[in-house]
Amino acid sequence: MVRQIEQMKQVASEQNTGATGLMVNAEGLTKRYGKQIAVNEVSFQVRRGEIFGLLGPNGAGKTTTLEMLEGIRRPDAGQATVAGLDVRRQRRAMQQRIGVQLQATTLFPELTARETITLFGALFPRALATSDLLREVALEEKARSYPQDLSGGQRQRLALALALVNDPELVFLDEPTTGLDPQSRRMLWDTVLRLRERGKTIILTTHFMDEAQMLCDRIAIMDHGQIIAEDTPSGLIASLGASATIECQLTPEAPLHTLRALPGATEARHGLERTLIYTSDVEQTLVALLKTANANGSTLDHIQIHTPTLEDVFLKLTGRALRE
Ligand SMILES: Nc1ncnc2c1ncn2[C@@H]1O[C@H](COP(=O)(O)OP(=O)(O)OP(=O)(O)O)[C@@H](O)[C@H]1O
Ligand SMILES: [Mg+2]
Repeated sequence: MVRQIEQMKQVASEQNTGATGLMVNAEGLTKRYGKQIAVNEVSFQVRRGEIFGLLGPNGAGKTTTLEMLEGIRRPDAGQATVAGLDVRRQRRAMQQRIGVQLQATTLFPELTARETITLFGALFPRALATSDLLREVALEEKARSYPQDLSGGQRQRLALALALVNDPELVFLDEPTTGLDPQSRRMLWDTVLRLRERGKTIILTTHFMDEAQMLCDRIAIMDHGQIIAEDTPSGLIASLGASATIECQLTPEAPLHTLRALPGATEARHGLERTLIYTSDVEQTLVALLKTANANGSTLDHIQIHTPTLEDVFLKLTGRALRE
């Protein structure tokens, strides 16, 4: 009997999120502000229980994409379902099932942390206990504090508690750690990972590649309103086809075709003050690079070798650094 009920629950939940267990299905989402296209035919899917990251530079269209899924902004074209519900036609029902932490949350100056959470909870038919939420975001000791007496990290954690107040299946976090000190960042990461352990789905945006690499099961890299790559962090890095990046300053600069022709080299780029050579064989490439520099009378400075990161992926895809 218990098993039958469990099975029925399972079926009901699968009907709501689609039989495929998809939490988000976005197809061709587009948003224009005047003549400018902020989000240009963006399509992606997020599975239940995943931490999905939108990574991209300022103005890439991350916030606008989230806002269309949250039912805050109406897409000009395209469609999306969240928890199996159409974000336009079933907006109200959908919003009961999600939690949203905006890029900047305005808190009421005259309400304590505890009062703020309780007030937000009253907006939903069903809310978690305020004390549980304070514990979840490690703010128990600050329950009686007013926003102006909280640190940036604590305010950010209070904003997260507000996003969790209706015990959502899906939580949107827009740059949850921007401006935070390393310790507060860690605490936020821990909370996000705990949420996933409890079966929640999380979609977050970030500029920080280390954060995306550490937290996300899958990442979509956005630039100029479009998704330019989407995969697991290791899949994205593997797509570079390189086991290492050689970073150096070559004066005068060598032409890229010469660098790309070095044995072992898979790709080369000139950055602002440095040249990057991706290689599948560091030793071979480095030896050849030194020989080439020597033969051309170039000087080679600031040589660094590192394992490729998402920053390298972005640089390879766009020719620009992620954070400029
Ligand atoms: N309300 C608005 N009116 C006009 N243009 C807007 C508006 N909101 C965003 N934009 C523009 O749309 C583009 C995408 O903005 P969006 O906020 O989605 O980017 P983002 O990736 O979240 O950037 P950031 O990393 O800085 O938060 C930007 O060029 C921005 O200037
Ligand atoms: Mg943004």
